[in-house]
Amino acid sequence: MKIQTTNLWMLLCFICIAGVSDAADDSNQVTVLTLKANDVTAKVSPLFYGLMTEEINHSYDGGIYAELIRNRIFKEVPIKRPLTKPEKEFKIEYGDSPNDGLMYWELVQTNGGIGSMSQDLSQPMNTALTNSLKLKITSLGENQRVGISNEGFWGIPVRPHTTYRARIHVKAGDGFKGPLTLALVDQDGKTIYTQTEIEQITDHYQRYDATLTTGDVKVTKDARFHIWAGDTGTVWFSLVSLFPPTYNNRPNGNRIDLMQLLADMKPEFLRFPGGNYVEGATIATRFDWKKTIGDITERPGHANDIWSGWSSDGMGMLEFLLWCEDLNMEPVIVVYSGYSMTGDRVAPGPDLEPYVQDALDQIEYTIGDASTPWGARRAKDGHPEPFKLTYMEIGNEEDVGNWRSKGNEYDARFTQFYDAIRAKYPQLKIIGATPVTSDLIKTRQPDVYDDHYYRSSVSMQADAHHYDDFDRNGPKIFVGEWATREGSPTPHLGAALGDAAWLTGLERNSDVVVMESYAPLFVNVNPGAMLWRTDLIGYDALTCYGSPSYYVQQMFSSHHGDTVIAVDADHTPSRLVEMRRRISDGEMETYSVDIPWLFYNATRDSHQGLIYLKLVNCSEVPRPVQIQINGVTNVKSIGELVQMKGNSTDDTNSITDPTHIIPTTTAINGLSHDFKQTLPPLSVSVLTIHAN
Ligand code: AHR
Repeated sequence: MKIQTTNLWMLLCFICIAGVSDAADDSNQVTVLTLKANDVTAKVSPLFYGLMTEEINHSYDGGIYAELIRNRIFKEVPIKRPLTKPEKEFKIEYGDSPNDGLMYWELVQTNGGIGSMSQDLSQPMNTALTNSLKLKITSLGENQRVGISNEGFWGIPVRPHTTYRARIHVKAGDGFKGPLTLALVDQDGKTIYTQTEIEQITDHYQRYDATLTTGDVKVTKDARFHIWAGDTGTVWFSLVSLFPPTYNNRPNGNRIDLMQLLADMKPEFLRFPGGNYVEGATIATRFDWKKTIGDITERPGHANDIWSGWSSDGMGMLEFLLWCEDLNMEPVIVVYSGYSMTGDRVAPGPDLEPYVQDALDQIEYTIGDASTPWGARRAKDGHPEPFKLTYMEIGNEEDVGNWRSKGNEYDARFTQFYDAIRAKYPQLKIIGATPVTSDLIKTRQPDVYDDHYYRSSVSMQADAHHYDDFDRNGPKIFVGEWATREGSPTPHLGAALGDAAWLTGLERNSDVVVMESYAPLFVNVNPGAMLWRTDLIGYDALTCYGSPSYYVQQMFSSHHGDTVIAVDADHTPSRLVEMRRRISDGEMETYSVDIPWLFYNATRDSHQGLIYLKLVNCSEVPRPVQIQINGVTNVKSIGELVQMKGNSTDDTNSITDPTHIIPTTTAINGLSHDFKQTLPPLSVSVLTIHAN
């Protein structure tokens, strides 16, 4: 039974469960798994487990990018996301708040101090930073404050004994000379956690840096950043930035806690910058990588009209690459292919040439040495050494429904990009942004196709053998986006079981499926931040947590060998599930599927003499499994068991209960060529067996 690839547009309507009935289930029956250590069925792809990222759900601004100031260059205007409508109805709507570019900023006036705050477009600092916040201080006496306040991304986190780096670009007028006081304060401004002063302010834009260090303060996620003027006059702010400590101390870097969660997954690649984010709603709002490099004062930012509203582009091309470097991942770059989500597109041919050139430049920026123009630019930006790049992708999800007519031109656009990239970089593997089942790419043969799946848990289980019969001599597959979409804002245990079942199938076929990445990766769990219902890792300003699905990824990716070995199974319990699928517009078909309760896969690391056996029990009863190992001389009695389990498929993690469902690691005894292991209900297990 095959279930087709789904995508964003189809996922809600494609597969539904009509009913479940008992089938070949006998919970007393012992399942026998025979591991054939010498029967290698596949080589595990060296880049198999990875990450996919884009700016959705405040993944970067308000997410992993550690900047604490929201709307730091005074350009953000409210945008309602235009998605989920057919092309003809697809239009960008602006929200209800005033379109003054000063969202998330407030005027501070206390104890009778008087001032005003407005957006000023007449005092640009440069061509990127065109807007400024003008603060006029009219009356200021002792114990009075006039200034500005930023609320951050649903609050600013403050921790004790921590140093924050502030950077402002300002100029003064009307006799103002300074000082400016920078402070982290509580919501009503009464408690000052830390403050510092900048003495002199000149009448032309200048950069001022300062540090703020907290003492023995109480942890909070609800602080505000204030800047108070010490005199009357006028101050123009062009950029206001504040960073906490970052991962590897990068000045324009990432949140430590989120990077650590990712590091624990041991990912091998990062697919970026999208997703639909690379496309934008229009050509103008695509991810235009050249506008995302250089100092942050050179980045104009752009409307993220496809997802979160605004993108500072602080997470720019170089930051993505440094993120890869920090976690020892390879970049998988998705280049803009000439099609944006409203149907705004570039015709193949001469019009597309500049975009093809942009892609070539982007590759050169990544891997060119410092003697090439874009390699030299990367060196100037602080990274003389080229990065490693094996795979790159042309566009994103080009196979979507007819309403976008996107796919019709993809063959021509793909060919144009493909030929130019192949000619200059023959070593690169080029990914076509369509599922392998689509026939949209006709003229050229991509090295890899990108299959996406967003499904229910039972659908994942039903399709866990999807790639078992694939042609080993055909094209390779990148499962570049997939998720079991149950539980919100992050998936629950039931979803994690669907993920684990599906992953056993991907790993078993990791000679054909050369890479896999779950999507979306991140969600800021504040209600206004979330756009996508089911996401791997949740966080607010202060803390973060991994969902049960996160732990499945972590368990799988940190326990695998270099080859897949054959596993024979006897007496696998299963149940009959009635499912429905759309067979044409408006027409549904009901069909029965025999879905196992147990899923498994075994890989071997022959250098270390280890076998990793993954076992998933999706049922609500314990399942005894007899494990037999052939083809090895010795099996050590002591091994390791990493196991995650729960009482209900609804069990989950959250900000307030971040470790409700997490794996535990224990040493186990009694392993041999033939031993019994009982899998707890609703559980995912990874057994490490020492076998030579
Ligand atoms: O992962 C969320 C979205 O789903 C991606 O941006 C898009 O590629 C897919 O449709």
